[in-house]
Amino acid sequence: MMQESIAALTAEITKAELNNPAELDAFRISYLGRKGRLADLFDQLKTVPNEEKRAVGQQLNALKQQAQARFDEAQQAAEAAADNAPANPDFDYTLPPVPNALGTRHPLSLVREEMLRVFARIGFAVAEGPEIEDDWHNFTALNFPENHPARDMQDTFFVESRSGGLVDSSDENALTHQPANPQPHLLRTHTSTVQVRVMETEPLPIRRVMPGRVFRNEAISARAHMMFHQVEGIFIDEGVSFADLKQTVYYFVQELFGADINIRFRPSFFPFTEPSAEIDITCLICKGAGCNICKYSGWVEIGGCGMVDPAVLENAGIDPEKYSGYAWGMGIERIAMLKYQIKDLRLFTENDMRFLRQFEAL
Ligand code: DAH
Repeated sequence: MMQESIAALTAEITKAELNNPAELDAFRISYLGRKGRLADLFDQLKTVPNEEKRAVGQQLNALKQQAQARFDEAQQAAEAAADNAPANPDFDYTLPPVPNALGTRHPLSLVREEMLRVFARIGFAVAEGPEIEDDWHNFTALNFPENHPARDMQDTFFVESRSGGLVDSSDENALTHQPANPQPHLLRTHTSTVQVRVMETEPLPIRRVMPGRVFRNEAISARAHMMFHQVEGIFIDEGVSFADLKQTVYYFVQELFGADINIRFRPSFFPFTEPSAEIDITCLICKGAGCNICKYSGWVEIGGCGMVDPAVLENAGIDPEKYSGYAWGMGIERIAMLKYQIKDLRLFTENDMRFLRQFEAL
């Protein structure tokens, strides 16, 4: 009885078709599964007389191995066939490839590079400085008196060290009147820090532009951000005058925005320049007619400038009797907003692809 069942099942297993996934599944379920025919026969083993049990058990095990081997082999063959099959038989392999999408330049990069190119044409080479600064380079050397309200003009992020707010930077620029360390460290609030660094370390005359990121403790809104970018500039030589500064600014604005843009210098105050001025240009949105961007004045501010204060020259180790110079600082975001008519500062940092894709492709 048992022998006949085994013989019949052996014949079935040998003949079974295993040519596609459905047949493979059916085979696995009806022969190899826990409720399959082989399992059935194993259950019936207990009805076999003791003296035959051993031989029948061996036959059953051999049949089980044979079934498993047939199944494994057919499954491997099916997988190999699937791997080799073309993914889409209708695909035309002679078509030219789709070019990779390369992305676009960030508007701030475009404007920064354009600004640097304009200044490069009149001899200003690029310098950079650290984003984490000490009090000396951000404030004291720039003539912000200790405990003077001028320091509050720029809400500062201070950097804490493990020693509690004061960072020892004794290995930095050894030159000049820099006070003994440790001193407070902070995220620079303006790129004017780099003015001090180049004046401290470079031979005269100095003619530099200094792009970079700056940080202020501000609530983020359409018009203010805690992180933005400036391009600073400085020129120090013998006999430099405010007329030279004006000429540089005129040249820059007209190169960047065109010859029909007007420029005005509005008297202002910065601790590190004397005299100081703010630079206004014709509002690019309304061409001077008045709109909500320029608050109906026809003018928009693009930066500050002035003659480097003699005290600042002295702090950096330059003789103010012999040398004079001018400096300026402009916001890159501000200029990009005017150039591209962008009305919300947050767009620059949100990485919204719909915004970014509108700019020049790489
Ligand atoms: N540092 C100033 C600011 O962040 C901008 C500035 C004004 C820079 C006058 C200068 C300057 O170099 O001469 O508001």
